[in-house]
Amino acid sequence: MKNEPILRIRELTKNYRSGSRDLTVLNKVSLDVDRGSTCAIVGPSGSGKTTLLGLSAGLDVPSSGSVTLNGIVLDLLTEDEKAQVRSSHVGFIFQSFNLLPSLTALENVMIPLELKGDKMARQKADELLGKVGLGDRADHYPAQLSGGEQQRVSIARAFANEPSILFADEPTGNLDGETGATVEELIFDLNTDAGTTLILVTHDLNLANRAGRVIHMKNGKLFSDSLTNSVS
Ligand SMILES: Nc1ncnc2c1ncn2[C@@H]1O[C@H](COP(=O)(O)OP(=O)(O)OP(=O)(O)O)[C@@H](O)[C@H]1O
Ligand SMILES: [Mg+2]
Repeated sequence: MKNEPILRIRELTKNYRSGSRDLTVLNKVSLDVDRGSTCAIVGPSGSGKTTLLGLSAGLDVPSSGSVTLNGIVLDLLTEDEKAQVRSSHVGFIFQSFNLLPSLTALENVMIPLELKGDKMARQKADELLGKVGLGDRADHYPAQLSGGEQQRVSIARAFANEPSILFADEPTGNLDGETGATVEELIFDLNTDAGTTLILVTHDLNLANRAGRVIHMKNGKLFSDSLTNSVS
């Protein structure tokens, strides 16, 4: 259904066991995100932003609660099935890059394309690296790249499968002002040109305020939401 939210989260909870007690890092969070919208998540370190993103993309398993992504309920899917959903619908820019160290920049960007059997994988990956300003670094391994350059490879990889939803965890956190501005434009262009839904985590309030909706998190809960003005 076109009108249904692209992301629907209900009572999502994540606990970790710490010694003899349970630590609740995400506490019954419910959230709907509209298709084609842009949404920023802000909040102090440790408030659960990365946890919420990982669970929303099916990269992590909740303690309880439900996630529906693009109409697909993730809760009962196997890891392989969730990987398939990500391959078809999701781009993810990790706070910690998550590049494969044994692959070059180009090969890292090719992964999502090869997983889909795209015969133009090499050429498309090359173009994407050019877009993030790394055309001349295609053959470098992650260890030979600076933090900001690794971040840009991870951004190119997230764009590769033309996702309908892009999760970006601090996408400009490791970049200088100029490169950060370029990356910001690339991400928002993806929304304008391809209608990709954006969910960004950021500490940069200027970036957050570019999004149509800003959600503040605190202690594993949504603290305020500029769209609904409600606290759940
Ligand atoms: N595997 C884990 N085991 C135990 N605790 C964890 C684990 N992963 C995350 N946490 C805890 O969950 C809480 C939320 O972490 P999360 O990474 O979601 O925070 P964040 O809001 O993204 O913070 P930051 O802004 O620093 O990136 C933190 O207190 C963290 O220590
Ligand atoms: Mg984080």
